[in-house]
Amino acid sequence: MITADGIFKNYGKTQALNNVSLHVEEGTIHGLIGPNGAGKSTTIKILSTLVRPTRGEVSIGGVPLKKGRAIRKQICVVPETPRLHEYLTAREEITSYARLSGLGRAQVSERVSAVVKELDLSAVQNQKISRFSTGMKKRVALALAMVADPPVLLLDEPMSGLDPVMRRQFKDTILGLEGKTVLVSDHDLYTVDELCTSVTILQEGRTLIEDNIDSLRRKVGKVSVEIRPQDPKQIHNLAAELQQMSHVTMAEVEKDSVVASVNDPEKDIPEVIRRASIYTDIMEAKPSKISLEEIFIKCAAEGGEL
Ligand SMILES: Nc1ncnc2c1ncn2[C@@H]1O[C@H](COP(=O)(O)OP(=O)(O)O)[C@@H](O)[C@H]1O
Ligand SMILES: [Mg+2]
Repeated sequence: MITADGIFKNYGKTQALNNVSLHVEEGTIHGLIGPNGAGKSTTIKILSTLVRPTRGEVSIGGVPLKKGRAIRKQICVVPETPRLHEYLTAREEITSYARLSGLGRAQVSERVSAVVKELDLSAVQNQKISRFSTGMKKRVALALAMVADPPVLLLDEPMSGLDPVMRRQFKDTILGLEGKTVLVSDHDLYTVDELCTSVTILQEGRTLIEDNIDSLRRKVGKVSVEIRPQDPKQIHNLAAELQQMSHVTMAEVEKDSVVASVNDPEKDIPEVIRRASIYTDIMEAKPSKISLEEIFIKCAAEGGEL
């Protein structure tokens, strides 16, 4: 549904995007992840036709980016910092936006009522936006995006600034949308974990990983166990021994220990420790989870491979 290949974007001398590729299948929820400055907002602005790429091919629903009007009919965008008219009530704001979207008179009130209900804004629809919390404002911004009912939603960090309860509600709202193609950005993989079926991870303006989240979660969940033999001279032999195990994906020597990576910690770690202690006397064995940050670093060092 969304296809972006080889996108570059320069702002003067700043290279904001430096080869971004992104593919989102119809009807799926896709995460766009990366630290601040990675290029998430720029990518979303390009998909929204707000910013022109310096180079690269983009299409949404088979329509190339050049056909701006046709693209804009298919998408709705919630920007990173939505600008709302604070002096209007939620309903007034959504109504005026719906009119601007070109909906007919009868359709306007019908669609406004539908999104107000869908986003749980009924109780506050006649209150002024200036009184709303951050979470409520995000909800109004989402209502604006959804009122014209386009098939593609582009959401730039919609969950930042939300407390855990509001995040939960937001996730439920997005998961409850039927038949939409959703691209949602965040700086944290864990935030979008339950929401998305696939993700693109950006770093320094390039696509580092594009993967199904289940497969990524398995890789992210990968755990290692650090084993320190009593006799330091045994370290290399122990590493070679553990490397032979089918449970071990990699056994490396680090200082005075062997670090053995496994896929299934509950099953594999006891096996590895058992084998190590049969092989030689063990001083210490401790499991360690690979953090997301380490994965980023490792992945960047190895050109996108995990
Ligand atoms: N309008 C702009 N002018 C100059 N540099 C920009 C502009 N917008 C973004 N950048 C730069 O492009 C890079 C990517 O920014 P952005 O897309 O906002 O990242 P993210 O949303 O992932 O935090 C950053 O280095 C940022 O400073
Ligand atoms: Mg951003």
